[in-house]
Amino acid sequence: MRIEASSRLHPTRKSALGQFMTPNSIAEFMVSLFDKLYNNIRLLDAGAGIGSLALAFLDKSFPNASSIHIDAWEVEQILLPYLKSNLIHYQKEAMHKGSLVQFNIHDDDFIESAVLSLVAKRNSHYTHCIINPPYKKISSDSKHRFLLRKIGIETVNLYTAFLALCILLLQSKGQMVAIVPRSFCNGTYYKPFRRFLLETCCISHIHVFGSRKKAFKDEGVLQENIIIKLIKNHPQSKIRISTSHDDSLSDYNVREIEANEVIMQKEFDFFIHIPTEPKPVTNSPLFENILSQISLGVSTGPVVDFRVKKYCSNKPNGKSVPLLYPQHFSNGELTHPKEIKKPSWITVNAETIKWLMPKGFYTLVKRFSAKEEKRRIVAYVVNPHELAGDYFGFENHFNVFHVNKHEIDENMAYGLALFLNSSLVDNYFRTFSGHTQVNANDLRLIKYPSKRLLMELGRKYKHKKLTQSQIDQAISQHE
Ligand SMILES: C[S@@+](CC[C@H](N)C(=O)[O-])C[C@H]1O[C@@H](n2cnc3c(N)ncnc32)[C@H](O)[C@@H]1O
Repeated sequence: MRIEASSRLHPTRKSALGQFMTPNSIAEFMVSLFDKLYNNIRLLDAGAGIGSLALAFLDKSFPNASSIHIDAWEVEQILLPYLKSNLIHYQKEAMHKGSLVQFNIHDDDFIESAVLSLVAKRNSHYTHCIINPPYKKISSDSKHRFLLRKIGIETVNLYTAFLALCILLLQSKGQMVAIVPRSFCNGTYYKPFRRFLLETCCISHIHVFGSRKKAFKDEGVLQENIIIKLIKNHPQSKIRISTSHDDSLSDYNVREIEANEVIMQKEFDFFIHIPTEPKPVTNSPLFENILSQISLGVSTGPVVDFRVKKYCSNKPNGKSVPLLYPQHFSNGELTHPKEIKKPSWITVNAETIKWLMPKGFYTLVKRFSAKEEKRRIVAYVVNPHELAGDYFGFENHFNVFHVNKHEIDENMAYGLALFLNSSLVDNYFRTFSGHTQVNANDLRLIKYPSKRLLMELGRKYKHKKLTQSQIDQAISQHE
């Protein structure tokens, strides 16, 4: 039914309303995360689709729960008849088994309804909430943004808005299980939401899918999704972290982890790391120092080409210096100048000089990697002997490691690139970043080996062209 209903949806609306339905195996797994289901349940399913989540919940809960009330919100007219007939069917089944199931289907915008109810200070009374909310950016001037602000919620995506509203509508000790993208776990945009979530709930369980595509494979969804279980107004204790490769959960694996290994403190922007490695790699000397302890800084590549377009060109003009884009590197090797679609040169003058860095060694990290790329973090070394000019322009698609906007030591540049290009760092990075973008802030938050070790690595390996397994071997010796 899910596949049939999904095929009837209009592609534009499907994307605008985030209409990606939960497969059965995942719905059942989500329900299994709730603590024992007891009497007088009030269940909230916001963005219910055809009702897969509420139905899985009902399946599991009777005959134990004698009375269940469901509130389901759905705006899609095509899905509403499916939702209604499914709930009626289950209501009848429940009756046979001696349970009472009542439901209200609200064919209204959930954000509007929830904000109205919260403004009117109606009781927050749901005992359980199970959701797969829509995900879509909320623009800053939209009706949703305005409504959410009314109750003090600042967030940038529909899914975090749904999560926040559902939390507010839960009663104290109420439980929620949600399948959502993991993008809220880091990044500055989601910081207010993370703070809100951690102030109101404890995180009890997080499930991660090993493969990006596998949770919604029928729907071709590429978002990396997690399942999270929250308990409102409950003290935070150890967190269960589970993994499976895909929705079959055939290789399900779970362990308990200290909360402080998952939830970062305020100074780390409340990031939520999801350690999926059996042994948290952060206990090694490779991850002992924050960036300032090794006297380095990292910034987004300062040259935003469209702002200085008139000073950029494909040919040098006597006053120009190299302007580097990721396209200037292939297989880790720098070629400049090179025929690329972007200008390779930038003129040095009073306006541009503030965006340039003096000639020298630097380590660069690409900010964007293609989805299919093996590693998220791809680091390069800029060797000044391979480039002309007294200054270099680093375009905005890079992050640049520097010392006060000046060059870094040669061995350090190579050692740092080697460390960043290792699978160990890539895995570590993936524990807290679900998206393919690597921001300077992300690089500020990870930890690094000592200066001494980085220089030693640089000295040893700088003239060698290493394969991935050779890089990993070089790094693992110091684990
Ligand atoms: C990701 S789908 C999940 C559907 C269902 N819960 C499931 O798991 O299969 C999100 C659903 O939310 C609905 N939706 C989107 N925006 C909504 C809104 N503002 N209010 C209520 N429902 C909404 C969509 O039509 C879609 O059916």
